[in-house]
Amino acid sequence: MSQNTTDETLDDAARRTLRANDRGGYTVPTSRLYPFQWNWDSAFVAMGFATFDELRAWREIASLLRGQWEDGMIPQIVFHAASDDYFPGPDVWGIARTPPTSGITQPPVLASAARRLLDRAADTGSAEDRMAAIYPCLLRNHRWWQQARDPARTGLVSTLHPWETGMDNSPAWDAALARVPSQTTTPIRRRDTSHVDAAMRPHESEYRRFIHLVDLFRAEGWNAARMLAVSPFRVADIGTNAILLRAERDLLALAARFGTPADAAEITARIAAMQPAIAAQWNAAHGLFLSRDLRDGAPINAATSAGLLPLWAQAATPAQAAAMGATLDRWAARVPFLVPSCDPADPRFEPRRYWRGPIWAVVNWMIAEGLAAGGDAARAGRIRADTARLIREGGLSEYFNPTDGGGIGGRDFSWTAAIHLLLQAG
Ligand code: GLC
Repeated sequence: MSQNTTDETLDDAARRTLRANDRGGYTVPTSRLYPFQWNWDSAFVAMGFATFDELRAWREIASLLRGQWEDGMIPQIVFHAASDDYFPGPDVWGIARTPPTSGITQPPVLASAARRLLDRAADTGSAEDRMAAIYPCLLRNHRWWQQARDPARTGLVSTLHPWETGMDNSPAWDAALARVPSQTTTPIRRRDTSHVDAAMRPHESEYRRFIHLVDLFRAEGWNAARMLAVSPFRVADIGTNAILLRAERDLLALAARFGTPADAAEITARIAAMQPAIAAQWNAAHGLFLSRDLRDGAPINAATSAGLLPLWAQAATPAQAAAMGATLDRWAARVPFLVPSCDPADPRFEPRRYWRGPIWAVVNWMIAEGLAAGGDAARAGRIRADTARLIREGGLSEYFNPTDGGGIGGRDFSWTAAIHLLLQAG
């Protein structure tokens, strides 16, 4: 995309990208690299579609929910149709369902997306019908998070695989992942590095450990309690927990219209447990929130963009929000574009490698929404303007280099297109 592309043609390009990645009711993140439906991608995609095709937006959610498990889990990937472009495919996960799915989850943005669709609907009648149909699925999903991932009721849910965080190779996972053996029983047939430059993707050693965990969970029959017990990788990801808290707040608002008073009481109790648990993850030295390693109980000393997502959850005190604003200013003094996925002063910062530095439009959007809701219009505006400019100059790329603004990773990316449309919609 050229530098002087006007917003009007970019809007068209974003809509075209979503339509082109539509495989008949579900949207692939991009055509070759990710040929199936991804959980949190679809939540953003639904919000993007809603800016010009509300019915298609609801259909995106319904398609994702076709993959929901009986216990309430919403999988990270739904394999609606076969493809040889991605590894690990359904044969590696070994889950006999129709449609086949992966056996782990991803950050639960879905209830927040659904609420936004409803609140902004022009076609209120059908929006209410669709919402009434999916509300029970969202409630079951949030119950699953607590039962499967926080049975001890600590207020923080566990994540058992870096892929579940959506931020696969974040430096926050280095130490926890180092505990995972690198032998696999599955032959590794990486496909990602044949679609995209290997320097922008996770390393081989990380990849082997990702697959080791899949082998391990498959051997446990994808039983939620067993997975929690045996996983050598178990973290309280601040990103997932913040997104879940925000989703619980949105579900609570929906419960008033689509649920029962008992549902509302149950959700309120979960929110009450999560708030202090997230608050305890505050780190004054970094001026943001940290994840926690649940194997040794220690905070994970890595300042990443996930640590700013409590803004999206409205989980920060005014003083913490101000400190996070100062953190953003410090980062902005080192790189021209916000928000890098890792503190640029951290020696682990790599501006081109996936979740170790690059900017992701979806994360920027959530942080900006949180800042704006908290009254920091100036920093929200800065992040939105940076995101818009990155997309204008770097195209609808998977992610962006914070040092030069270049668009990198996969091209014609659905969730980047969705964020462009959301930024335009305001
Ligand atoms: C990568 C990202 C993840 C995303 C998926 C599909 O695995 O790390 O967050 O959901 O690609 O875009």
